[in-house]
Amino acid sequence: MNSHRYILLLLIVSLTTRICLSLPIAIASEEKLKLTLYYEALCPACEDFVVNYVDNIFDNGLISIVDLKLSPYGNAKINPNGTIVCQHGEWECRLNTIEACSIHAWPAPSDHFPFVYCIEKLNSEGKYTEWETCFEKLDLDPNPVTDCYSRGIGHELELQYADEILALEPPHAYVPWVVVDGQPLYDDYTDFISYICKAYKGSNMPKACLGLTRIITAPTDTIKSFNHVCYLEEDNVKSKSKPKSTLSKIISSTVASWMT
Ligand SMILES: *[C@@H]1O[C@H](CO)[C@@H](O)[C@H](O)[C@H]1NC(C)=O
Repeated sequence: MNSHRYILLLLIVSLTTRICLSLPIAIASEEKLKLTLYYEALCPACEDFVVNYVDNIFDNGLISIVDLKLSPYGNAKINPNGTIVCQHGEWECRLNTIEACSIHAWPAPSDHFPFVYCIEKLNSEGKYTEWETCFEKLDLDPNPVTDCYSRGIGHELELQYADEILALEPPHAYVPWVVVDGQPLYDDYTDFISYICKAYKGSNMPKACLGLTRIITAPTDTIKSFNHVCYLEEDNVKSKSKPKSTLSKIISSTVASWMT
């Protein structure tokens, strides 16, 4: 081996070592807990959960230890031709897609959550057709969201969310379906903060976890809220076995027609 090649080899080895050694440090500082909310627009228990429960983690400091992921698809169905049918009709599909577009446009939870909250709040007041007022209320540029929607990107995002919720193990039975670090909370979901605090192993325990009894004061009756969850219908379960390739083939052909 000549000296040039030897030096080059040394360089590659030292670089690789540095990259590998720096990885565990990066992961250690990422000690957040994954909180995923599977939900759908116009489902009363989902509106209630977003507005009266999830919103609290942005005020009580819990967001600093939580990696919040919203999945706005829920129990919708995909037709063989790639169009989506939603439990609560066309408006649910539209708002799910708009919310998916907002997550796509503003990936940080602190950026998209206020918009999602705004829409869900309007939904809970029966004013869901006024969702566009959320841009003005929050001083947000509507273009990234409306472009995503009108160009069919939102529809593709929805198909991805569909794949994610249908791949859940154990499978979801209803929405809101709340998963903390891979574990579904079932009908205990309104208590998600205590689950997060219990599961957190990091060194930055938020104060909110210490005064737990005070922060979990349900603004609405938990049982009343649970009565309004939206169950997965039987015929949706079958679509779980639908091959992905069929879906991706029909996406492009149906986006145009779906938009009209
Ligand atoms: C897609 O299929 C559904 C039912 O299978 C039908 O109602 C709808 O009109 C179809 N849409 C398009 C764009 O072909």
